Amino acid sequence: MEQYVIKGGNPLVGEVKIGGAKNAALAILAAAIMTDETVYIDNLPDVRDINVLLQAIEGIGAVVERIDRHTVKINGSMIRDVNIEYEYIKKIRASYYLLGALLGKYKKAEVALPGGCNIGSRPIDQHIKGFRALGADVRIEHGLIITEAEELIGNHIYLDVVTVGATINIMMVAALAKGNTIIENAAKEPHVVDVANFLNSMGANIKGAGTDVIRIKGVEKLHKTEYSIIPDQIEAGTFMFAAAATKGDVTVKNVIPKHLEATTAKLLEIGCEVEEFDDAVRVVSSKPLQHTHVKTLPYPGYPTDMQPQIAVTLGLSQGTSIVTESIFENRFKYVDELARMGGDIKVEGNTAIINGVEKYTGARVSAPDLRAGAALVIAGLAAEGITVVDDIVYIQRGYECFEEKLRGLGAQIEKVNSESEIQKFTLKVG
Ligand code: EPZ
Repeated sequence: MEQYVIKGGNPLVGEVKIGGAKNAALAILAAAIMTDETVYIDNLPDVRDINVLLQAIEGIGAVVERIDRHTVKINGSMIRDVNIEYEYIKKIRASYYLLGALLGKYKKAEVALPGGCNIGSRPIDQHIKGFRALGADVRIEHGLIITEAEELIGNHIYLDVVTVGATINIMMVAALAKGNTIIENAAKEPHVVDVANFLNSMGANIKGAGTDVIRIKGVEKLHKTEYSIIPDQIEAGTFMFAAAATKGDVTVKNVIPKHLEATTAKLLEIGCEVEEFDDAVRVVSSKPLQHTHVKTLPYPGYPTDMQPQIAVTLGLSQGTSIVTESIFENRFKYVDELARMGGDIKVEGNTAIINGVEKYTGARVSAPDLRAGAALVIAGLAAEGITVVDDIVYIQRGYECFEEKLRGLGAQIEKVNSESEIQKFTLKVG
Protein backbone atom coordinates (compact mmCIF):
# COMPACT_ATOMS: atom_id res chain seq x y z
CA MET A 1 0.00 0.00 0.00
CA GLU A 2 1.42 3.36 -1.01
CA GLN A 3 1.95 6.12 1.50
CA TYR A 4 3.09 9.70 1.55
CA VAL A 5 6.00 10.58 3.73
CA ILE A 6 6.40 14.27 4.43
CA LYS A 7 8.94 16.41 6.19
CA GLY A 8 6.96 19.44 7.26
CA GLY A 9 7.84 22.98 8.08
CA ASN A 10 8.64 24.46 4.66
CA PRO A 11 6.40 27.29 3.45
CA LEU A 12 5.01 26.39 0.03
CA VAL A 13 6.18 28.92 -2.53
CA GLY A 14 5.70 29.13 -6.28
CA GLU A 15 3.14 28.32 -8.95
CA VAL A 16 0.92 25.29 -9.44
CA LYS A 17 -1.31 24.41 -12.37
CA ILE A 18 -4.76 22.99 -11.70
CA GLY A 19 -6.27 20.18 -13.77
CA GLY A 20 -9.79 19.51 -14.97
CA ALA A 21 -12.62 19.11 -12.48
CA LYS A 22 -13.03 15.46 -11.47
CA ASN A 23 -16.67 15.82 -10.52
CA ALA A 24 -17.58 17.54 -13.78
CA ALA A 25 -15.59 15.00 -15.77
CA LEU A 26 -17.34 12.02 -14.19
CA ALA A 27 -20.76 13.24 -15.31
CA ILE A 28 -19.52 14.41 -18.70
CA LEU A 29 -17.92 11.05 -19.49
CA ALA A 30 -21.21 9.31 -18.70
CA ALA A 31 -23.14 11.82 -20.81
CA ALA A 32 -20.71 11.27 -23.70
CA ILE A 33 -22.29 7.89 -24.47
CA MET A 34 -25.66 9.54 -25.12
CA THR A 35 -24.83 10.09 -28.77
CA ASP A 36 -23.82 7.53 -31.39
CA GLU A 37 -21.32 10.00 -32.78
CA THR A 38 -17.76 10.47 -31.55
CA VAL A 39 -17.11 12.85 -28.67
CA TYR A 40 -13.71 14.35 -27.74
CA ILE A 41 -13.19 15.41 -24.16
CA ASP A 42 -10.17 17.42 -23.14
CA ASN A 43 -8.73 18.65 -19.82
CA LEU A 44 -9.66 15.34 -18.24
CA PRO A 45 -7.89 14.77 -14.93
CA ASP A 46 -5.80 11.60 -14.90
CA VAL A 47 -7.06 10.29 -11.55
CA ARG A 48 -8.28 6.92 -10.39
CA ASP A 49 -12.04 7.68 -10.35
CA ILE A 50 -11.95 8.83 -13.96
CA ASN A 51 -10.03 5.77 -15.07
CA VAL A 52 -12.49 3.42 -13.33
CA LEU A 53 -15.46 5.14 -14.96
CA LEU A 54 -13.80 4.86 -18.37
CA GLN A 55 -13.44 1.11 -17.76
CA ALA A 56 -17.13 0.89 -16.83
CA ILE A 57 -18.03 2.70 -20.05
CA GLU A 58 -15.81 0.38 -22.06
CA GLY A 59 -17.34 -2.56 -20.22
CA ILE A 60 -20.77 -1.89 -21.74
CA GLY A 61 -19.36 -1.73 -25.26
CA ALA A 62 -18.51 1.92 -25.88
CA VAL A 63 -15.23 2.58 -27.69
CA VAL A 64 -12.91 4.57 -25.47
CA GLU A 65 -9.62 5.82 -26.83
CA ARG A 66 -7.18 7.77 -24.71
CA ILE A 67 -5.56 10.24 -27.11
CA ASP A 68 -3.21 11.50 -24.42
CA ARG A 69 -3.17 11.73 -20.66
CA HIS A 70 -5.87 14.41 -20.59
CA THR A 71 -7.86 13.76 -23.76
CA VAL A 72 -10.25 10.95 -24.54
CA LYS A 73 -12.35 10.01 -27.53
CA ILE A 74 -15.60 8.13 -26.81
CA ASN A 75 -18.01 6.50 -29.20
CA GLY A 76 -21.19 5.06 -27.72
CA SER A 77 -22.70 3.64 -30.90
CA MET A 78 -21.68 0.05 -30.12
CA ILE A 79 -23.14 -0.16 -26.62
CA ARG A 80 -24.64 -3.64 -26.21
CA ASP A 81 -25.36 -3.71 -22.53
CA VAL A 82 -27.23 -1.36 -20.21
CA ASN A 83 -26.09 -3.08 -17.03
CA ILE A 84 -23.41 -1.52 -14.81
CA GLU A 85 -22.09 -3.98 -12.30
CA TYR A 86 -21.44 -3.62 -8.60
CA GLU A 87 -17.71 -4.00 -9.23
CA TYR A 88 -17.67 -0.46 -10.65
CA ILE A 89 -20.24 1.09 -8.37
CA LYS A 90 -18.40 -0.03 -5.28
CA LYS A 91 -15.22 1.58 -6.58
CA ILE A 92 -16.88 4.74 -7.70
CA ARG A 93 -20.37 5.89 -6.83
CA ALA A 94 -20.49 8.32 -9.70
CA SER A 95 -21.00 5.40 -12.09
CA TYR A 96 -24.63 6.11 -11.21
CA TYR A 97 -24.49 8.87 -13.80
CA LEU A 98 -24.73 6.03 -16.30
CA LEU A 99 -28.29 5.48 -15.01
CA GLY A 100 -29.38 8.84 -16.40
CA ALA A 101 -27.27 8.55 -19.54
CA LEU A 102 -28.48 5.04 -20.46
CA LEU A 103 -32.10 5.69 -19.47
CA GLY A 104 -32.14 8.84 -21.59
CA LYS A 105 -30.60 7.15 -24.62
CA TYR A 106 -31.90 3.57 -24.50
CA LYS A 107 -34.95 4.02 -22.21
CA LYS A 108 -33.49 1.35 -19.99
CA ALA A 109 -30.68 1.03 -17.46
CA GLU A 110 -29.63 -1.41 -14.78
CA VAL A 111 -27.05 -0.13 -12.38
CA ALA A 112 -25.96 -1.64 -9.07
CA LEU A 113 -27.36 0.34 -6.14
CA PRO A 114 -24.57 2.28 -4.44
CA GLY A 115 -24.37 1.73 -0.71
CA GLY A 116 -23.28 4.29 1.86
CA CYS A 117 -19.70 5.46 1.78
CA ASN A 118 -16.97 6.83 3.99
CA ILE A 119 -18.46 10.29 4.24
CA GLY A 120 -21.98 9.22 5.13
CA SER A 121 -25.20 7.61 4.01
CA ARG A 122 -25.85 8.66 0.45
CA PRO A 123 -29.53 8.26 -0.51
CA ILE A 124 -30.54 8.46 -4.18
CA ASP A 125 -34.25 8.99 -3.61
CA GLN A 126 -34.21 12.30 -5.53
CA HIS A 127 -32.67 10.66 -8.60
CA ILE A 128 -35.42 8.04 -8.52
CA LYS A 129 -38.12 10.63 -7.95
CA GLY A 130 -36.90 12.50 -11.03
CA PHE A 131 -36.77 9.42 -13.27
CA ARG A 132 -40.30 8.47 -12.22
CA ALA A 133 -41.55 11.98 -12.89
CA LEU A 134 -40.20 11.66 -16.43
CA GLY A 135 -42.24 8.50 -16.96
CA ALA A 136 -39.75 5.77 -16.07
CA ASP A 137 -40.55 2.77 -13.98
CA VAL A 138 -37.88 2.32 -11.28
CA ARG A 139 -37.52 -0.76 -9.13
CA ILE A 140 -34.81 -2.15 -6.94
CA GLU A 141 -34.15 -5.87 -7.26
CA HIS A 142 -31.19 -7.99 -6.18
CA GLY A 143 -29.06 -4.96 -5.46
CA LEU A 144 -29.78 -3.33 -8.82
CA ILE A 145 -31.71 -0.22 -9.72
CA ILE A 146 -33.65 -1.20 -12.79
CA THR A 147 -35.27 1.61 -14.67
CA GLU A 148 -37.13 1.57 -17.97
CA ALA A 149 -39.64 3.63 -19.85
CA GLU A 150 -41.76 3.19 -22.92
CA GLU A 151 -41.61 6.89 -23.40
CA LEU A 152 -39.87 9.63 -21.46
CA ILE A 153 -41.98 12.75 -21.12
CA GLY A 154 -40.89 16.10 -19.68
CA ASN A 155 -42.32 17.16 -16.34
CA HIS A 156 -42.08 19.74 -13.56
CA ILE A 157 -39.80 18.37 -10.83
CA TYR A 158 -39.18 19.93 -7.43
CA LEU A 159 -36.14 18.53 -5.65
CA ASP A 160 -36.59 18.15 -1.89
CA VAL A 161 -32.88 18.63 -1.24
CA VAL A 162 -30.29 20.45 -3.29
CA THR A 163 -28.38 17.61 -4.88
CA VAL A 164 -25.69 17.74 -7.53
CA GLY A 165 -26.07 14.08 -8.51
CA ALA A 166 -29.85 14.10 -8.94
CA THR A 167 -29.82 17.45 -10.77
CA ILE A 168 -27.33 16.09 -13.30
CA ASN A 169 -28.96 12.68 -13.68
CA ILE A 170 -32.40 14.22 -14.27
CA MET A 171 -30.93 16.77 -16.68
CA MET A 172 -29.43 13.95 -18.77
CA VAL A 173 -32.69 12.01 -19.00
CA ALA A 174 -34.76 15.14 -19.68
CA ALA A 175 -32.40 16.16 -22.49
CA LEU A 176 -33.78 13.27 -24.55
CA ALA A 177 -37.35 13.21 -23.16
CA LYS A 178 -40.34 14.50 -25.14
CA GLY A 179 -41.36 18.05 -24.28
CA ASN A 180 -40.32 20.37 -21.50
CA THR A 181 -38.86 19.67 -18.07
CA ILE A 182 -38.38 22.16 -15.28
CA ILE A 183 -36.11 21.22 -12.36
CA GLU A 184 -36.76 23.44 -9.34
CA ASN A 185 -34.40 23.73 -6.37
CA ALA A 186 -31.63 22.50 -8.67
CA ALA A 187 -27.99 22.39 -7.58
CA LYS A 188 -25.99 25.37 -8.88
CA GLU A 189 -22.45 23.97 -8.64
CA PRO A 190 -20.03 24.90 -11.46
CA HIS A 191 -19.96 21.28 -12.56
CA VAL A 192 -23.75 21.24 -13.03
CA VAL A 193 -23.24 24.17 -15.42
CA ASP A 194 -20.37 22.37 -17.13
CA VAL A 195 -22.48 19.26 -17.75
CA ALA A 196 -25.32 21.42 -19.12
CA ASN A 197 -22.86 23.21 -21.43
CA PHE A 198 -21.50 19.87 -22.56
CA LEU A 199 -24.98 18.48 -23.31
CA ASN A 200 -25.87 21.72 -25.13
CA SER A 201 -22.72 21.36 -27.22
CA MET A 202 -24.15 17.97 -28.27
CA GLY A 203 -27.41 19.60 -29.32
CA ALA A 204 -29.42 19.52 -26.07
CA ASN A 205 -31.55 22.50 -25.12
CA ILE A 206 -30.88 23.28 -21.45
CA LYS A 207 -31.31 26.74 -19.97
CA GLY A 208 -30.82 28.10 -16.47
CA ALA A 209 -28.03 25.81 -15.26
CA GLY A 210 -26.25 27.70 -12.49
CA THR A 211 -29.55 29.02 -11.12
CA ASP A 212 -32.00 27.02 -9.07
CA VAL A 213 -34.45 26.55 -11.94
CA ILE A 214 -33.25 24.56 -14.93
CA ARG A 215 -35.45 24.38 -18.04
CA ILE A 216 -34.90 21.61 -20.53
CA LYS A 217 -36.56 21.21 -23.90
CA GLY A 218 -36.14 17.59 -24.96
CA VAL A 219 -34.49 16.91 -28.32
CA GLU A 220 -34.61 13.77 -30.41
CA LYS A 221 -30.96 12.98 -30.44
CA LEU A 222 -27.56 14.31 -29.55
CA HIS A 223 -24.55 14.69 -31.80
CA LYS A 224 -20.76 14.78 -31.75
CA THR A 225 -18.82 17.43 -29.92
CA GLU A 226 -15.40 18.51 -28.69
CA TYR A 227 -15.37 19.78 -25.16
CA SER A 228 -12.88 20.95 -22.55
CA ILE A 229 -13.68 20.41 -18.87
CA ILE A 230 -13.59 23.31 -16.38
CA PRO A 231 -10.75 23.57 -13.85
CA ASP A 232 -11.14 21.75 -10.54
CA GLN A 233 -12.20 24.23 -7.88
CA ILE A 234 -11.55 21.73 -5.09
CA GLU A 235 -8.03 20.89 -6.21
CA ALA A 236 -7.41 24.65 -6.45
CA GLY A 237 -8.87 25.30 -3.00
CA THR A 238 -6.76 22.53 -1.52
CA PHE A 239 -3.56 24.24 -2.73
CA MET A 240 -4.87 27.59 -1.47
CA PHE A 241 -5.25 26.18 2.04
CA ALA A 242 -1.89 24.41 1.78
CA ALA A 243 -0.38 27.85 1.13
CA ALA A 244 -2.23 29.31 4.11
CA ALA A 245 -1.34 26.55 6.58
CA THR A 246 2.36 26.50 5.64
CA LYS A 247 2.70 30.30 5.69
CA GLY A 248 3.48 30.23 2.02
CA ASP A 249 3.01 32.25 -1.13
CA VAL A 250 1.37 30.23 -3.89
CA THR A 251 -0.09 31.23 -7.23
CA VAL A 252 -2.73 28.72 -8.28
CA LYS A 253 -3.01 28.83 -12.05
CA ASN A 254 -5.61 27.70 -14.59
CA VAL A 255 -8.61 28.40 -12.35
CA ILE A 256 -11.88 30.31 -12.62
CA PRO A 257 -11.59 32.70 -9.64
CA LYS A 258 -15.39 33.12 -9.47
CA HIS A 259 -15.72 29.42 -8.57
CA LEU A 260 -13.34 29.94 -5.64
CA GLU A 261 -15.16 32.84 -3.99
CA ALA A 262 -16.26 30.96 -0.86
CA THR A 263 -12.72 29.68 -0.29
CA THR A 264 -11.19 33.08 -0.99
CA ALA A 265 -13.59 34.78 1.43
CA LYS A 266 -12.57 32.44 4.25
CA LEU A 267 -8.86 32.87 3.54
CA LEU A 268 -9.28 36.65 3.76
CA GLU A 269 -11.20 36.28 7.02
CA ILE A 270 -8.38 34.33 8.64
CA GLY A 271 -5.76 36.87 7.62
CA CYS A 272 -4.32 35.71 4.28
CA GLU A 273 -3.91 37.98 1.30
CA VAL A 274 -5.59 36.77 -1.87
CA GLU A 275 -4.94 38.37 -5.22
CA GLU A 276 -7.18 37.48 -8.15
CA PHE A 277 -6.08 37.43 -11.78
CA ASP A 278 -8.02 36.42 -14.89
CA ASP A 279 -7.26 32.74 -14.51
CA ALA A 280 -5.17 32.52 -11.36
CA VAL A 281 -5.25 33.36 -7.67
CA ARG A 282 -2.29 34.09 -5.42
CA VAL A 283 -2.49 33.29 -1.71
CA VAL A 284 0.03 34.84 0.65
CA SER A 285 0.05 33.84 4.30
CA SER A 286 2.44 36.09 6.17
CA LYS A 287 0.51 37.08 9.30
CA PRO A 288 -0.63 34.90 12.22
CA LEU A 289 -3.84 33.13 11.18
CA GLN A 290 -7.08 34.04 12.94
CA HIS A 291 -10.08 31.91 13.87
CA THR A 292 -13.38 31.97 12.00
CA HIS A 293 -16.64 30.05 11.67
CA VAL A 294 -17.75 28.16 8.61
CA LYS A 295 -20.76 26.09 7.58
CA THR A 296 -20.77 23.88 4.50
CA LEU A 297 -23.60 24.58 2.08
CA PRO A 298 -24.54 23.92 -1.53
CA TYR A 299 -22.86 26.28 -4.05
CA PRO A 300 -22.31 29.23 -3.82
CA GLY A 301 -21.92 28.39 -0.13
CA TYR A 302 -18.74 26.99 1.32
CA PRO A 303 -18.18 23.51 -0.23
CA THR A 304 -18.27 20.35 1.87
CA ASP A 305 -15.36 19.09 -0.26
CA MET A 306 -13.23 21.88 1.23
CA GLN A 307 -14.27 21.32 4.85
CA PRO A 308 -11.34 19.19 6.07
CA GLN A 309 -8.81 21.51 4.41
CA ILE A 310 -10.12 24.62 6.19
CA ALA A 311 -10.47 22.75 9.49
CA VAL A 312 -6.83 21.65 9.41
CA THR A 313 -5.83 25.26 8.73
CA LEU A 314 -8.07 26.62 11.48
CA GLY A 315 -6.40 24.12 13.79
CA LEU A 316 -3.29 26.31 13.44
CA SER A 317 -5.14 29.62 13.81
CA GLN A 318 -5.41 31.75 16.92
CA GLY A 319 -8.60 31.30 18.93
CA THR A 320 -11.59 29.00 18.67
CA SER A 321 -13.24 28.24 15.34
CA ILE A 322 -16.48 26.41 14.67
CA VAL A 323 -16.97 24.29 11.55
CA THR A 324 -20.46 22.98 10.80
CA GLU A 325 -20.89 20.22 8.24
CA SER A 326 -24.41 20.36 6.84
CA ILE A 327 -24.11 18.11 3.76
CA PHE A 328 -22.61 14.74 4.83
CA GLU A 329 -22.82 13.40 8.37
CA ASN A 330 -19.53 11.54 8.47
CA ARG A 331 -16.97 14.03 7.28
CA PHE A 332 -15.01 14.55 10.49
CA LYS A 333 -13.13 11.27 10.50
CA TYR A 334 -9.79 13.01 10.11
CA VAL A 335 -10.19 14.67 13.51
CA ASP A 336 -8.88 11.65 15.44
CA GLU A 337 -5.93 11.43 13.07
CA LEU A 338 -5.18 15.12 13.48
CA ALA A 339 -5.29 14.69 17.27
CA ARG A 340 -2.25 12.40 16.85
CA MET A 341 -0.46 15.40 15.36
CA GLY A 342 -1.41 17.64 18.27
CA GLY A 343 -4.64 19.09 16.86
CA ASP A 344 -7.26 20.14 19.40
CA ILE A 345 -10.67 19.55 17.82
CA LYS A 346 -13.83 18.32 19.49
CA VAL A 347 -16.71 17.06 17.40
CA GLU A 348 -20.29 17.34 18.62
CA GLY A 349 -22.85 16.10 16.11
CA ASN A 350 -22.24 17.95 12.87
CA THR A 351 -20.05 20.61 14.49
CA ALA A 352 -16.33 20.69 15.13
CA ILE A 353 -15.01 23.05 17.78
CA ILE A 354 -11.42 23.83 16.94
CA ASN A 355 -9.00 25.33 19.41
CA GLY A 356 -6.03 26.58 17.46
CA VAL A 357 -2.63 25.17 18.48
CA GLU A 358 0.74 26.71 17.76
CA LYS A 359 1.96 23.80 15.69
CA TYR A 360 1.28 20.24 14.62
CA THR A 361 3.93 17.60 15.11
CA GLY A 362 4.54 14.86 12.56
CA ALA A 363 2.91 11.48 13.19
CA ARG A 364 1.67 8.42 11.37
CA VAL A 365 -1.93 8.97 10.20
CA SER A 366 -4.40 7.37 7.79
CA ALA A 367 -6.44 9.06 5.10
CA PRO A 368 -10.09 8.26 5.90
CA ASP A 369 -11.40 9.56 2.54
CA LEU A 370 -10.36 11.71 -0.41
CA ARG A 371 -10.61 15.28 0.92
CA ALA A 372 -9.76 14.36 4.51
CA GLY A 373 -6.66 12.63 3.15
CA ALA A 374 -5.62 15.78 1.29
CA ALA A 375 -6.19 17.78 4.47
CA LEU A 376 -3.91 15.47 6.44
CA VAL A 377 -1.21 16.04 3.82
CA ILE A 378 -1.64 19.80 4.41
CA ALA A 379 -1.27 19.16 8.15
CA GLY A 380 1.89 17.15 7.48
CA LEU A 381 3.34 19.93 5.30
CA ALA A 382 2.78 22.44 8.11
CA ALA A 383 3.92 20.12 10.92
CA GLU A 384 7.24 19.90 12.64
CA GLY A 385 9.02 16.65 11.73
CA ILE A 386 7.99 13.62 9.71
CA THR A 387 4.41 12.63 8.89
CA VAL A 388 3.43 9.40 7.18
CA VAL A 389 -0.02 9.36 5.57
CA ASP A 390 -1.34 5.83 4.97
CA ASP A 391 -4.17 4.82 2.61
CA ILE A 392 -3.31 7.44 0.01
CA VAL A 393 -5.31 5.45 -2.50
CA TYR A 394 -8.20 7.72 -1.45
CA ILE A 395 -6.21 10.83 -2.32
CA GLN A 396 -5.24 9.37 -5.69
CA ARG A 397 -8.95 9.09 -6.54
CA GLY A 398 -9.13 12.83 -6.99
CA TYR A 399 -5.72 14.51 -7.13
CA GLU A 400 -3.43 14.07 -10.12
CA CYS A 401 0.30 14.04 -9.29
CA PHE A 402 -0.43 15.54 -5.88
CA GLU A 403 3.06 14.93 -4.53
CA GLU A 404 4.77 16.19 -7.70
CA LYS A 405 2.76 19.40 -7.67
CA LEU A 406 3.58 19.91 -3.99
CA ARG A 407 7.26 19.24 -4.61
CA GLY A 408 7.13 21.92 -7.30
CA LEU A 409 6.19 24.32 -4.49
CA GLY A 410 9.14 23.27 -2.36
CA ALA A 411 7.45 20.59 -0.26
CA GLN A 412 9.45 17.64 0.96
CA ILE A 413 7.06 14.82 0.17
CA GLU A 414 7.48 11.43 -1.43
CA LYS A 415 5.25 8.55 -2.39
CA VAL A 416 6.65 5.39 -0.85
CA ASN A 417 5.72 1.75 -0.66
CA SER A 418 7.59 0.28 2.29
CA GLU A 419 9.03 0.94 5.71
CA SER A 420 12.54 0.94 4.24
CA GLU A 421 11.60 3.69 1.80
CA ILE A 422 10.24 5.73 4.71
CA GLN A 423 13.54 5.23 6.53
CA LYS A 424 15.48 6.25 3.45
CA PHE A 425 13.44 9.45 3.12
CA THR A 426 13.91 10.24 6.80
CA LEU A 427 17.67 9.84 6.52
CA LYS A 428 17.78 11.92 3.34
CA VAL A 429 15.87 14.88 4.74
CA GLY A 430 17.76 14.71 8.05
C1 EPZ B 1 -21.27 15.34 -5.33
O1 EPZ B 1 -21.78 14.19 -4.69
C2 EPZ B 1 -19.78 15.16 -5.38
N1 EPZ B 1 -19.46 13.95 -6.09
C3 EPZ B 1 -19.21 15.11 -3.97
O2 EPZ B 1 -17.81 15.09 -4.12
C4 EPZ B 1 -19.64 16.36 -3.21
O3 EPZ B 1 -19.22 16.24 -1.87
C5 EPZ B 1 -21.15 16.54 -3.26
O4 EPZ B 1 -21.61 16.53 -4.63
C6 EPZ B 1 -21.64 17.84 -2.63
O5 EPZ B 1 -21.11 18.93 -3.32
C7 EPZ B 1 -19.48 13.93 -7.41
O6 EPZ B 1 -19.78 14.92 -8.08
C8 EPZ B 1 -19.09 12.68 -8.08
P1 EPZ B 1 -25.30 15.47 -3.60
P2 EPZ B 1 -23.32 13.84 -4.78
O7 EPZ B 1 -26.26 14.63 -4.36
O8 EPZ B 1 -23.83 14.29 -6.10
C9 EPZ B 1 -28.46 14.37 -0.14
C10 EPZ B 1 -15.58 14.58 -3.49
O9 EPZ B 1 -14.85 14.60 -2.48
N2 EPZ B 1 -29.18 13.57 -1.15
O10 EPZ B 1 -25.16 16.90 -3.97
O11 EPZ B 1 -23.51 12.44 -4.39
C11 EPZ B 1 -27.12 13.79 0.24
O12 EPZ B 1 -27.24 12.80 1.23
C12 EPZ B 1 -17.01 14.28 -3.34
O13 EPZ B 1 -15.17 14.81 -4.64
C13 EPZ B 1 -30.42 13.04 -0.86
O14 EPZ B 1 -30.92 13.19 0.26
O15 EPZ B 1 -23.87 14.78 -3.63
C14 EPZ B 1 -26.37 15.00 0.71
O16 EPZ B 1 -26.71 15.28 2.04
C15 EPZ B 1 -17.45 13.31 -2.36
N3 EPZ B 1 -31.07 12.33 -1.82
C16 EPZ B 1 -26.91 16.12 -0.16
O17 EPZ B 1 -28.14 15.63 -0.70
C17 EPZ B 1 -30.56 12.15 -3.06
O18 EPZ B 1 -31.22 11.51 -3.90
C18 EPZ B 1 -26.02 16.53 -1.31
O19 EPZ B 1 -25.65 15.38 -2.07
C19 EPZ B 1 -29.31 12.68 -3.37
C20 EPZ B 1 -28.63 13.41 -2.38
